[in-house]
Amino acid sequence: MSEKKIIISPSLLSCDFARLKDEVEAVEKAGADWLHVDVMDGHFVNNLTIGPPIVAAIKKYSTVPLDVHLMISEPLRYVERFVEAGSDILTFHIEADFNPGGVIDMINKAAARLNRHVDVGISLNPDTPAHTLHEVIGLVDMVLVMTVYPGFGGQSFIERAIDKITDVISLSPEVDIQVDGGITPENIHVPALKGASAFVAGTAVFKSPDYATAIAALRRNAKKSYRGGFAG
Ligand code: DX5
Ligand code: ZN
Repeated sequence: MSEKKIIISPSLLSCDFARLKDEVEAVEKAGADWLHVDVMDGHFVNNLTIGPPIVAAIKKYSTVPLDVHLMISEPLRYVERFVEAGSDILTFHIEADFNPGGVIDMINKAAARLNRHVDVGISLNPDTPAHTLHEVIGLVDMVLVMTVYPGFGGQSFIERAIDKITDVISLSPEVDIQVDGGITPENIHVPALKGASAFVAGTAVFKSPDYATAIAALRRNAKKSYRGGFAG
């Protein structure tokens, strides 16, 4: 089992949108590995956030990979535009499309057309079991295990949602596993112990008085517990 790098991906959903450029620069300076961008369509989830033009605007000022999380009902209709906007990791939900293989194909084709590399992620809501990924897991780079019901920042971590990490690792020992929702320095060891290596944190970073201290604490506590490929 290969050791993976710990990735801390602050969710811009909790930043001050009126100062988006400053927030992007500040959180990168504070040590963010990726920037997590939450896209919501008011249909797949009960909230509306941002679309491709804002992703493109963030891309102009960011130097780390853009980790774009699509919480939208029709990913097939929009993934091309999110690739064009500059997504480096593009994640959509398995619950959102009956033909996830077609969505993955569309992302790969758009990336190839632009001569860019885009990692594909697929996400599971807290109640969706790992076996739903059976047919596509070999086609993705990352599985995003939601640890809240998607829609809003600032919710509490749902611990039972991470039980399926073991099943995901059984399906694909090498796939990267990301967790998102209610992650704090106090609980990050729980998914890290299961084998998650990429961690989204909105509130824990942007509502803290010092972004660098928050990111360092998340990384330190994840590193202490992470077991590369640990499947038990
Ligand atoms: C939830 C989003 C998350 C969320 C994370 O629907 O996908 O990325 O903003 O924020 P916290 O860390 O506050 O739960
Ligand atoms: Zn997210």
